[in-house]
Amino acid sequence: MSDRVYIFDTTLRDGEQSPGNTMNTQEKLRVARQLEALGVDIIEAGFPIASEGDFDAVRQIAGAIKNSEVAGLARANNEDIDRAWGAIKGAAKPRIHTFISTSDIHLKYQLKKNRDEVLKIAVSSVKRAKKYTPNVEFSAMDATRSDRDYLCRVFAEVINAGAVTLNVPDTVGYAVPEEFGALIRYIMENVPNISKARISVHCHNDLGLAVANSLSAIMNGARQVECTINGIGERAGNASLEEIAMTLRTRKDIFPADTGINTEKIYPSSRLITSITGVPVQPNKAIVGANAFAHESGIHQDGLLKAKLTYEIMTPESVGIAKSSLILGKHSGRHAFRERIEALGYELNDNELNLAFKRFKALSDMKKNVYDEDIEMIIMDEVHKIPERYKLVYLNVSCGNTTVPTATVKLEIDGSVLQDVGVGDGPVDATYKIIKRLVKTTSKLVKFSVNSITRDMDAQGEVFVKLEEKGLIVIGKGADTDIIVASARAYINALNRLEYMKSKTVEVK
Ligand code: KIV
Ligand code: ZN
Repeated sequence: MSDRVYIFDTTLRDGEQSPGNTMNTQEKLRVARQLEALGVDIIEAGFPIASEGDFDAVRQIAGAIKNSEVAGLARANNEDIDRAWGAIKGAAKPRIHTFISTSDIHLKYQLKKNRDEVLKIAVSSVKRAKKYTPNVEFSAMDATRSDRDYLCRVFAEVINAGAVTLNVPDTVGYAVPEEFGALIRYIMENVPNISKARISVHCHNDLGLAVANSLSAIMNGARQVECTINGIGERAGNASLEEIAMTLRTRKDIFPADTGINTEKIYPSSRLITSITGVPVQPNKAIVGANAFAHESGIHQDGLLKAKLTYEIMTPESVGIAKSSLILGKHSGRHAFRERIEALGYELNDNELNLAFKRFKALSDMKKNVYDEDIEMIIMDEVHKIPERYKLVYLNVSCGNTTVPTATVKLEIDGSVLQDVGVGDGPVDATYKIIKRLVKTTSKLVKFSVNSITRDMDAQGEVFVKLEEKGLIVIGKGADTDIIVASARAYINALNRLEYMKSKTVEVK
């Protein structure tokens, strides 16, 4: 019988801490709920000592999630562990995840401690965490560059101290599959009390091997994998949840274990992360990329028409990509709209549905076909929105090859309407200069990107902008059939997010 692999999702911790993937508390809560629906066993909600904002987000997630375990990360010291417990103690199933490096490189240059000292710290941290909860995970950071026997000694001692999960991180993405699998086997065979704990792996993708290494570890006895949606995370990212879950499911003949992932929720989860962070998934990304199920070659298409089995190893429906992107238009009613939303994996209450439906009707007056991606954008804009200090009231631009690009912008700021006019290098530049002047922001625009959401000539443009102010980074997004309007919406959305983040973030001294 097939064994179980536990999925530990760290999108909200390792993923969120990587550049460009910052989320506010409301967004983190939404992601956590989605991860719970996806069937993730353990949600690593954040690093509570990092800031008041992180603490509060972890605390709120702990209060909201009932089925998945909620883990808080802590370095191996009392202050971190107490803080992590403070954030997760309200969870139905709390877990403290504490870590310290075990490689000689980290010991010498970073910790400036010897092996015995680190072993003592690891044991006392696990004991401290154990006072709060029996559910303690210990990670040996940079395990893949650690001395194997020392690693086994640390693991044996932390099991005696009460750790029930032992994580083997490939922190710098250095391992290769055969070697990593052998390391897991070595731990299984050389930690005498290993039967009292579960082995976990946490692989980074610096050499593009994070998923392969995780799978090799499963083959050799690991029964928890740490991963993220879309593979987001430090540097080249973490192992991608969707690739691991679908490999285990598709190759049941090879792997001794499967996950509890509800795979039909994979694609909506991927889209949710993209729409919150503004970080697009590469088109050829396995499982969730735009081309993952698109067969272009004539030979493949011919084969598929004759029998799906010829070129399809899994169906798009099995990962939640709707069979036919049923296209809605201006004659579609509320019933069809609700059905589509449910098929996309969203649950809206009546009020939220009303808001989204109103916007859908307005959009379908402007464009003939309304696709799934348009609907997702509507939900992001109308349902999951943050408090708006700034609102776009009016925008008019004139531009062309013989005109100086000029923009007139009217904004509502804290309830009062202000207007200004000015010129720029192009219509977006002119619009942004006026918005910046009206809002008096000191933030810097560090990224601007525009894509078409769907395929027709009347498609909506989707604009993402990234702003930075005193180390705070936010993503704003906007969509419209007019890309200048979409650009203005994205900028204003980012400015509202910045205000929101500033009101929430107080660094811990
Ligand atoms: O990559 C790493 O080593 C980590 C640990 C905190 C588990 O993220
Ligand atoms: Zn990591």
